[in-house]
Amino acid sequence: MSQEDQKRAAAEAALEYIQPGMIVGVGSGSTANHFIEALAASGIDIKGAVASSEASAERLKGHGIQIHDLNTVAELPVYIDGADETNHKLQLIKGGGGSLTREKIVATVSSRFVCIVDESKLVDKLGAFPLPVEVIPMAQSYVSGLLAKLGGRPELRKGFTTDNGNVILDVKGLRMVDPVELEGALNHIPGVVCNGLFARRPADILLVGTQEGVIKLARSPR
Ligand code: A5P
Repeated sequence: MSQEDQKRAAAEAALEYIQPGMIVGVGSGSTANHFIEALAASGIDIKGAVASSEASAERLKGHGIQIHDLNTVAELPVYIDGADETNHKLQLIKGGGGSLTREKIVATVSSRFVCIVDESKLVDKLGAFPLPVEVIPMAQSYVSGLLAKLGGRPELRKGFTTDNGNVILDVKGLRMVDPVELEGALNHIPGVVCNGLFARRPADILLVGTQEGVIKLARSPR
């Protein structure tokens, strides 16, 4: 099975968590796009979706799925999204597509976060994938300096502006011994809007598309 087929298989498996009448949180990226296609094809009569990026909102609308503003939604039972890396604790690195801040907001509000990946994303230790950090433009130089002091090698993502009007620093070389601690420490740097570690709000369910089919990992209760 190709990587794309693995992504598609994981995305289709996530339909198990969707019930008619739900408002569904929908993420961003190629695996989330497979989920949007599967959702549209399934015919499940959902009430609508909250999208974590403008691109996903457009794709959902293209299928006639109503987009809701998160501020108008009382509760979000489920959020479906991909990841750039996941460990076995279902802690993630996200933001390869640059939508990390909205993704973290929607994931945190949702009662259940179902993460869908191909098998290349499942790792023993997070950190081979450069950590995306969303930064307010005027603080780019200051934040880069601090990240370097922490042992990171930040690189500005060229020609890219987030949906929130900010820039992304992709940071190589950060030690991720304690992802929960690192996520909090980075968020305390003035000018940092959000970082791509999802350790404080990891996924609840991980669906991994593999050569042998989709495997499911569930996080132990908090
Ligand atoms: C988007 O900002 C990301 O967090 C994506 O969820 C992540 O990059 C996974 O993308 P793919 O599904 O395209 O691999």
